[in-house]
Amino acid sequence: MAYSFEVEGVEQTYQATPLFYQQLGMSSSKIILEEEANYLKISQESPAPKPQLTTREWKGRYEAAWSRPDILKIPRVRRGNKEVTLQLENCQCPKCIHPDTKQRASDTFAIPLKVKANSVEHKETGLEISWSDNHTGFYPYEWLHPHTQNKHGDRLEQNRLKPARDTAPGPRTFNPVPASDQSPRISYDEVMSDDKRLSVWLQLIWTRGFCFVDGVPTTPEATKGLIERIAFIRHTHYGGFWDFTADLTFKDTAYTNEFLGAHTDNTYFTDPARLQLFHLLSHTDGSGGENLLVDGFAAAAQLRSENPTHYDELARHRHPWHASGNDDSCIQPSAQAPVFSIHPDLDKMYQIRWNDYDRAPKVNWSAEEQLAWYRAARHYNEILQSREMWQKLEPGSALIFDNWRMLHGRSQFTGKRRMCGGYINNDDYISRLRMLKYGRECVLNNLGNVRNVSSNPYSIV
Ligand SMILES: [Fe+2]
Ligand SMILES: [Zn+2]
Repeated sequence: MAYSFEVEGVEQTYQATPLFYQQLGMSSSKIILEEEANYLKISQESPAPKPQLTTREWKGRYEAAWSRPDILKIPRVRRGNKEVTLQLENCQCPKCIHPDTKQRASDTFAIPLKVKANSVEHKETGLEISWSDNHTGFYPYEWLHPHTQNKHGDRLEQNRLKPARDTAPGPRTFNPVPASDQSPRISYDEVMSDDKRLSVWLQLIWTRGFCFVDGVPTTPEATKGLIERIAFIRHTHYGGFWDFTADLTFKDTAYTNEFLGAHTDNTYFTDPARLQLFHLLSHTDGSGGENLLVDGFAAAAQLRSENPTHYDELARHRHPWHASGNDDSCIQPSAQAPVFSIHPDLDKMYQIRWNDYDRAPKVNWSAEEQLAWYRAARHYNEILQSREMWQKLEPGSALIFDNWRMLHGRSQFTGKRRMCGGYINNDDYISRLRMLKYGRECVLNNLGNVRNVSSNPYSIV
């Protein structure tokens, strides 16, 4: 018997051996599949540990090979040893995944433990599997691809915490001290009216760490609207959208005019705000107040190349943080957090907490441990200072940056300065970015896929 498929418009035929079919649905021994020049070699291993129904990709198609009662494995030989584990509970049919809510609609616990796959059919858009509990399941090819995994257990590795090794996801570029004319910029009118330009804007923030928006009307309302074009504004104990004037001629010191060294905001939150937008509405009767940005990832990469031990110290040693300025609150993250957070799935740095103003005392650290941390922190601080970019904000040009990556600060200033701005949550920004960049279908097809490849929306974190 032969399978025939169409692959990229070309009709292909695959001749399966009799054994191939003989073993379909059987459960007494394990079938081993090996790829030869132009055919599949099927051999038998006995005794088998457990019965399995296995299919494999062949010339771009998935082939059924053999069965285990509840799990279907699909090795993908063409890109190394990949396989996918299919379970009835992961069925993607409209009965199992609600078409509108995209939520699971089947009762996992009603599935018999010993359910088995009776047959596998290759349909035009996916695998149809007939399960022994009379459910006909469907697994689209578009969904199968992102759900394959390395055969030799990197699945298990992914759930372990790894030592710090890398600093940032590949598609992001480090910017060593760009001149101000190299700063990414985009126009307000475009991002407000065109979703494609909005997508470009969000990608610039992600790849470069910051972006200027030009032509913003110099009003709080327009600035608020610009932030809300991405997502709702995040409220904190300081409020939501802010708009304040530091008016030193009237000695209003509610907000200071002092120098602020490079830092990230919200080191004390369990979930620090991801984006921050500033817009200088006016600055009169004075000078100064330039804004400072530093690429913390680039600085971390430099630290790692100059002294891996220092890098490791800041990535591995968790530190306490707090915000206690308001009389009625003392905010601390629910778990202490390191300066460099390494992503547990992607093995990349994805978040920096750096705020010397907000560090809490180290308790239960030995003198040696403390010394090691200060040495590393001092080194990082020196690198940060050598990479600072200074820009004078102008009314009409809003600055937005990634608070998980870029450190910000400002110089002293005189005169009357009115600034406004706000925060956006990580989850809402990343959701918007992924949806605009990849499209809803691709994002949904990759749910649960944690591979660090640029085609996977999850590689954007
Ligand atoms: Fe700040
Ligand atoms: Zn189903």
